[in-house]
Amino acid sequence: MTDTTRAVGAPMAVTTSGLTKRYGARVAVDGLALHVPRGRVYGFLGPNGSGKTTTLRMLTGLIRPSSGSIEVLGEPYSWRDRNRLARTGSLIEMPAFYPYLSGRDNLRVFGATGPAAARSRPDEVLEVVGLADRGGDKVRTYSLGMRQRLGIAVALLSDPELLMLDEPANGLDPAGIVAMRELLRYLTGQGKTVLVSSHILPEVQQLADVVGIIDRGRLVREGTLDDLLANGAQVRVQVRPDEVPAALAALGGLGVPLEPDAPDAPTAGRITIRIGAEQAALVNRTLGERGVFASAVSTTSDLESVFLELTRGVGMGTPDDPLSGPPPGWGDLGSPP
Ligand SMILES: Nc1ncnc2c1ncn2[C@@H]1O[C@H](COP(=O)(O)OP(=O)(O)OP(=O)(O)O)[C@@H](O)[C@H]1O
Ligand SMILES: [Mg+2]
Repeated sequence: MTDTTRAVGAPMAVTTSGLTKRYGARVAVDGLALHVPRGRVYGFLGPNGSGKTTTLRMLTGLIRPSSGSIEVLGEPYSWRDRNRLARTGSLIEMPAFYPYLSGRDNLRVFGATGPAAARSRPDEVLEVVGLADRGGDKVRTYSLGMRQRLGIAVALLSDPELLMLDEPANGLDPAGIVAMRELLRYLTGQGKTVLVSSHILPEVQQLADVVGIIDRGRLVREGTLDDLLANGAQVRVQVRPDEVPAALAALGGLGVPLEPDAPDAPTAGRITIRIGAEQAALVNRTLGERGVFASAVSTTSDLESVFLELTRGVGMGTPDDPLSGPPPGWGDLGSPP
């Protein structure tokens, strides 16, 4: 990446602004502002029902947004734009394969309905997804992981610049996830952008370079995995609620942000300290020197803490300040893998 691109920010494969989908009174996706940088694996993470599939359906033209705008590969996207569809590939629902046809013949069938270029590619995409030696076998003999890969092969038929996959790692075992990671790395190595959704944090940590977290249709965090893991690290201590003022006074000397839970909250006495996880011992010692003893000290990354709170259903609330532009640091992604 050149200094110029760094200065103006990394080029984006997908951006959305105010993207919203309503079903009657229910808002499935609510004012979403996504920033998917080109040439990366973007992990779209959120608990069940948070709006991931609905978002991907809008991005792939399967359903129409209620409001908001989408830009795909540098161009404003209008619903059912044929040109844009040819440059993107997606796997939103597993295609219904013909079980008694081989993987290769299934690809021929799917390719026949797509752009002309897709018709000549079954062998190439079988190779890419690691099914070259099983391409002649009937699909009914495929394992779940092989079917997932065949689904990705279908999405790759038109040699798209942008690939959108809804929960591609669903049901895969650890070896299957490693294979998926290698496949996605290979694709980004070819300059493609991959947007994958998941409701499982460790999966996204393994697959993605950049993460967006969605909850109840709204984006609550977005950034590089490294940033979310490192810069947002925090240490949490639990003290007796009446000792909170003394604890805050002691910790004030560290010169980092301190966030005590409200005195009337069930979690009163809990203080979140925005400091590297490796500083937990320093935090504990600082308290001890002032005669305050923590009953618990824990460390989490921002990513883990946000996602744990979402999946436990503890009120994250709606963000007061919905993200409206690319977060700082987007232009500094380093060189592509
Ligand atoms: N066709 C529809 N009609 C009405 N409500 C819908 C429709 N599709 C989705 N929803 C609602 O929109 C919300 C988001 O659903 P969505 O399928 O996008 O979530 P998700 O993040 O993909 O969840 P999961 O992890 O379970 O796949 C849910 O409350 C869901 O019930
Ligand atoms: Mg879904």
